[in-house]
Amino acid sequence: MGKALRLGVNIDHVATIRNARGGHHPDPIRAALAAAQAGADGITAHLREDRRHISDDDIARLIDEVHLPLNLEMAATPEMVEIALRHRPRAACIVPERREERTTEGGLDVVHGFRHLEPMVGRLVDAGIRVSLFVEPDPAQLDAAVRIGAPVVELHTGAYCEATGDERRARLERLTAAAEYAGRAGLECHAGHGLGYGTVTAVAAIPTIAELNIGHFLVGEAIFIGFKEAIHTMRRLMDEARA
Ligand code: PXP
Repeated sequence: MGKALRLGVNIDHVATIRNARGGHHPDPIRAALAAAQAGADGITAHLREDRRHISDDDIARLIDEVHLPLNLEMAATPEMVEIALRHRPRAACIVPERREERTTEGGLDVVHGFRHLEPMVGRLVDAGIRVSLFVEPDPAQLDAAVRIGAPVVELHTGAYCEATGDERRARLERLTAAAEYAGRAGLECHAGHGLGYGTVTAVAAIPTIAELNIGHFLVGEAIFIGFKEAIHTMRRLMDEARA
């Protein structure tokens, strides 16, 4: 058996459904508690600048009411850095929210955004928050992550999940090579975006990946089989891939 692979359950889209009608149902904090019971190792939530799903109050309640570590996904803005410093989540994953912050395929452009990102990463790291950068599987981005002082990267699996056939195999090779490169560079490597039952096994089998963050598929699958059952199944597929 390889090293344990953690599952971070992203509850953003429970909040999306709640917000479609206003009010309190379904409650993303209840979903986080259910995820904890179902074997999640952490909770991931993205406080977007436009608050389209998770709210400020959700973040406060996730910290207060859920015992699992919180991975706060956030844009690199002064407002979000202040929020992170106030709540002190275990981890913060910096993600792009604006087009000009992204590389061509959608991860954070650490290479070109270096000067903008460096002081924010420094403040979060100094506060004891484990900072990760959500990047494409591109060695140049990983080198920049090392130089900027981030201990963790999360590889964007979106392009791999959307591709089919030879294109998907090529995308998987890129992910595998980047995860190995990250390991050699001393970075802890996570992965996520778009993963489902059909795409998780190959990514979970990459030995240098320590954590997967998965949300949309699990919330969607919850409609048919329930949230806990969906998480159990995902967990089993991840464990089998590591065995
Ligand atoms: N990881 C990061 C950095 C993300 O931004 C997202 C989407 O919010 C996810 C993982 C989860 O993606 P999905 O909801 O497609 O599983």
